[in-house]
Amino acid sequence: MTTGMIDQFGRRIEYLRISVTDRCNFRCTYCMPLEGLPWLPREDILSYEEITEVVRQLAPLGVSRLRITGGEPTIRPQLTTLIAMLRAVPGIEDIALSTNGVKLPQMAEELKAAGLDRVNMSADSLRPERIREIARRSLSFHPIQSAMAAERAGLGPVKLNTVVMRGINDDEIEDFARLTLEHPWHVRFIELMPVGEMRELTFEHVVPSDEILARLSAIAPLGADAGPERGNGPAAYYRFPGAPGSIGVITPMTHTYCGDCNRVRLTADGRLRTCLYGDEEVNFRDTLRAGEPLAPLYAAALATKPREHALLQMKVGGLRALSEIGG
Ligand code: 5AD
Ligand code: SF4
Repeated sequence: MTTGMIDQFGRRIEYLRISVTDRCNFRCTYCMPLEGLPWLPREDILSYEEITEVVRQLAPLGVSRLRITGGEPTIRPQLTTLIAMLRAVPGIEDIALSTNGVKLPQMAEELKAAGLDRVNMSADSLRPERIREIARRSLSFHPIQSAMAAERAGLGPVKLNTVVMRGINDDEIEDFARLTLEHPWHVRFIELMPVGEMRELTFEHVVPSDEILARLSAIAPLGADAGPERGNGPAAYYRFPGAPGSIGVITPMTHTYCGDCNRVRLTADGRLRTCLYGDEEVNFRDTLRAGEPLAPLYAAALATKPREHALLQMKVGGLRALSEIGG
């Protein structure tokens, strides 16, 4: 459907990412410091009723696809209740979830039953020891088992997101890509954004996607691919001949994809952000709690959506951690 409101650069906005919590049960090195972040106080966080009301008001303005994010969304109690509430909003066609995957074996079935369509999962390593080192939690979970659980529950096509870090997990690029020879999964390599509070990671850890694709072409020829039917965001897709799954690259550091941006973000504390990286945000929460309509504010917010983000210019100082703004 093509219904979304058009911003000042002609982009149709139909996709809302909703952060339901800023907290997380992992401490991924590229995302947050080991000690965590100053968490939002509970009263600042939108209730499920409030989130649903935002969606109810934006759906007639053309928002038809939702993604639930965090922090880690599955640690907020009763997440399935929210999914069922969002599923019931007229005009919502697709609901996806971004998760670190640790709770999927336990939750996949109930998420599906509540009306979730599909999941994206972080998978930064396939090696248990390294998974623990990157997430900085002693975990006994394995991303493959979580992906299989999601698939079995009908939450496919599963997308796996791998943040590539030179010298840390870039030796697994080929292993991840080979998963697409066996599974109908979309494996997406994300260029590390050295932003936020991280201390150990710098521009030197960024692996440009062109380098990733060149390495993968040594396994087998990579053809351009349309990618998954739904949820075509910023990734460019490729496929090995005859492979059931596809390979995507997401290139915040080396190529801009802002010209096709179709999304806005709702933070856990009820700010609407029109760009992941910019400072542009409007306070939906106070307007909502005052019982005022959101439509005028939404139109004003879209008018501030920047043409493109500043990462390519390497203006990275002072940006908020992605867990605070919903990744
Ligand atoms: N660089 C790139 N991607 C990141 N994410 C979080 N922090 C970063 C970062 N610094 C993305 C990854 C991860 C998801 C939770 O958010 O895709 O899987
Ligand atoms: Fe948690 Fe995701 Fe951040 Fe890792 S990247 S700490 S799983 S929010």
